[in-house]
Amino acid sequence: MIRLLINPVIFGGSGSEALALKVSRLTGIPLGELIVKKFPDGETYVRFVTDVSERDVILVNSMYRNPNDYLIEFLLEVSTLKELGARRIIAFIPYFPYARQDDRFNPGEAVSLYIVAKLIENAGVNEVYTIDMHLHRAESIDKVFKIKAVNLTAVIELMKFVKQHYELKNPLVIGPDEESEQWAKIAANYLGTEYDILEKERVSAEEVVIKVRGLNVSGRDIVIVDDIVSTGGTMAEAVKALKRLGARNVVATCTHPILVGNAYQKILKAGALELIGTDTVPSPVSFVTVAPVIAEALRSVT
Ligand code: R5P
Repeated sequence: MIRLLINPVIFGGSGSEALALKVSRLTGIPLGELIVKKFPDGETYVRFVTDVSERDVILVNSMYRNPNDYLIEFLLEVSTLKELGARRIIAFIPYFPYARQDDRFNPGEAVSLYIVAKLIENAGVNEVYTIDMHLHRAESIDKVFKIKAVNLTAVIELMKFVKQHYELKNPLVIGPDEESEQWAKIAANYLGTEYDILEKERVSAEEVVIKVRGLNVSGRDIVIVDDIVSTGGTMAEAVKALKRLGARNVVATCTHPILVGNAYQKILKAGALELIGTDTVPSPVSFVTVAPVIAEALRSVT
C-alpha cells in the first residue's frame, strides 16, 4: 500500500475505466464509483458516488479519438472533485490530446496544446502525469504546465512484450523520425542493441515521405518505435522502406494506437509482422497495459 497518499481513491473516467481498475489492483488503492453518462442532447453528466472529502484522488482519463468529449468530462470531474473537498487531485492523462498543435503554423491558428493545458490547470488539478506525450517544439513538459507535470514512458513495457513474444535475430531499433530518437534510445538500451532514426518529411496530414539514411538493415530484425500511430502513414512508409532494403522481420510498436480508418491494415500490408500498442488508447492492438507505469509513478508521489 502506498503510504504517502492520504486515504487515496482512484477513479477511471469513461476513457480509462479498465485501466483505472488495473491500476487499483496493482497498487491496492480502492477504485471509487463514478457515473458518467450523456443527457439526451449530448451534454455530459458526471457524479461521484464515492466520498472524496479530504482524500487524495487519482483520476485516470485518457483523451483519445473523441478528445473534446473526454476533455469536457475531465474538466467537469476535476471541478466537482474540488467542490466536494478532495485534498489533492492527481490526474493521469495517458494520451494527451492536442499536443501536435503546439505552434501557430499558419497565421491565426489556435495553439491548442497550451490552451488545453491551461484549462486543465485552471480546473484545479494539482499534479498531471501523461505518457509519451508528443513534445516536439515544447522541448519539455515543464514548459507546458505551471503545476507539477511528469511525462512518463511506456517504451519499456512495449519492449518487454516484444522480447517475450519475438525471437529477434540481429535486432536493430528504428525511430521513424527525428523526434522518435528519445524512444528509440530507451528501447535499444532495454533490448541491448543499437538504434537509428529515419528521415521523415510530412507532405500532408495523411502523407509522409520516409528516407533511410544508408543503414544496413539487410537480414536484420527491426523494431520500430514511435509515440503515435494515427493515419498509419508514418509507420507504413517506414516499414516499406526497411523491407525494400532487405530487413528480415519488422515489428512495429507505438504507445498510442489512435488507428484512424484502416491504419492497422495499412501497416500490416506494408509488411510489418505486427503492430503492438498500449491501452492508453484501447484498440485491437493494445496488447500492452500502461497500468504498471502509472502504478510505479504513484509509488513516487510524495
Ligand atoms: C509525429 O511526429 C508522430 O511522432 C507520429 O509519427 C505521427 O503522429 C504519426 O502520424 P500518422 O500515423 O498519421 O503518420
